[in-house]
Amino acid sequence: MENKVTLTYQNGDQTIDFPILPGTLGPDVVDIRAFSKTGMFTFDPGFLATSSCESKITFIDGDLGQLYYRGYPIEQLAEHSDYLEVCYLLVFGELPTPAQKEEFDRTVMRHSMVHDQLTSFFKGFRRDAHPMAMMVGVVGALSAFYQDSLDINNPRHREVAIYRLISKIPTIAAMCYRYSKGLPFNYPKNALGYTENFMHMMFATPCEEYKPSPVLVQALDRIFTLHADHEQNASTSTVRLAGSSGANPFACIAAGIACLWGPSHGGANEAVLKMLDEIGHVDNVPAFMEGVKAKTHKLMGFGHRVYKNMDPRAAIMKKTCDDVLQELGLHNDPKFKLAMALEKIALEDQYFIDRKLYPNVDFYSGIVLTALGIPVSMFTVIFALARTVGWISHWNEMIADPGMKIGRPRQLYTGAQRRDYVEAAKRG
Ligand code: SDX
Repeated sequence: MENKVTLTYQNGDQTIDFPILPGTLGPDVVDIRAFSKTGMFTFDPGFLATSSCESKITFIDGDLGQLYYRGYPIEQLAEHSDYLEVCYLLVFGELPTPAQKEEFDRTVMRHSMVHDQLTSFFKGFRRDAHPMAMMVGVVGALSAFYQDSLDINNPRHREVAIYRLISKIPTIAAMCYRYSKGLPFNYPKNALGYTENFMHMMFATPCEEYKPSPVLVQALDRIFTLHADHEQNASTSTVRLAGSSGANPFACIAAGIACLWGPSHGGANEAVLKMLDEIGHVDNVPAFMEGVKAKTHKLMGFGHRVYKNMDPRAAIMKKTCDDVLQELGLHNDPKFKLAMALEKIALEDQYFIDRKLYPNVDFYSGIVLTALGIPVSMFTVIFALARTVGWISHWNEMIADPGMKIGRPRQLYTGAQRRDYVEAAKRG
């Protein structure tokens, strides 16, 4: 018995069968590629019921709160792996052998510098420019410096672009921060680990030695791992759509950065801190919650399109937050205490229970990043840094697919009927 869906239309005069395709994990999909034969389009604004592609990279189960990178649970990767190993896994599909890991790390660290003329780009920005504005501009301009790896149909060119992006995104991110503070740029130090090198480029000064605590380095490295990929979210879908036209990988990643900036997406971590500042004290939470229920504002860092249970990353992030605050002697941090009180109240409130609203990855990340000395304006930059490997892995998977087509959705048109032009004198 063929596994299919039969559509009956035109008042029952016509039927058409659509095959059902099974995945390795998660829901089956209805293959509606033949739907245009009906003379109609499907309609799904926001893609709540639409899978845009086939992918082998990341799996999410929103009801069970599961997140797997290439089949490995995020909890195990956060516990036992490191971010560069996760990068290797996402790009190449398997965990590296020790020799492969050593070669990968060395290659990534050896390409951490950017073309020196790229530093001039920053001079065009006001010092108070949002770092995400600088990221979009500077990353988008990278293709101007790498004309030698832009043939997207050449697997070697794609691999070179992947290494360049993973290697250089921390350098550019740190430059955005340094420029906004009026501080000199720090060159990368290839002998350091990936995340320690990023912290060096962010916080070292020429005037004294900078040596971050290994606990803090490991915490930030874990935050990178938690943000590395997340299936077909808005920014990854943006990268795929941009890439489907054949645009170069640097322009596609710049498009992903632009999409991530929105407060409903990667900008939520910044919005959580602003919300906590607005609430100020746990005594103000009931009034704030009334506003949420009246829909005058949202509880930022809560809710998710896919997770209708706890975001597995939020639980790990909360533990990481606690570790960092303990290490820094900030375990009485008022913002962390307020966030925990807010979480407890929300999880016991019927409004949130009915809507299956739980903390997502952004709820605690802002508190950790603040404790690490990273300013609110840089939170989404950190997210973009970590997500670049996910974006570029999806881009690579799509371009390598010989069946790839340019993404071009249709619409339900409800505008004016055909009508003739009216001279200006006859209008109104
Ligand atoms: C990320 O897609 C990904 O994977 C993204 C991400 C990734 O790693 O790439 O996980 C990263 O973007 C996490 C999400 C960060 N965003 C925020 O924290 C912003 C606050 N959250 C929301 O704006 C919202 O929850 C979304 C955008 C995340 C999801 O919105 P949906 O799935 O479109 O849900 P919805 O807007 O249809 O909400 C359903 C109901 C509505 O109430 P009713 O109309 O049914 O009465 O829940 C309410 C919403 O008003 N609701 C919220 C809420 N989120 C949804 N009410 C209060 N506070 C919230 N945060």
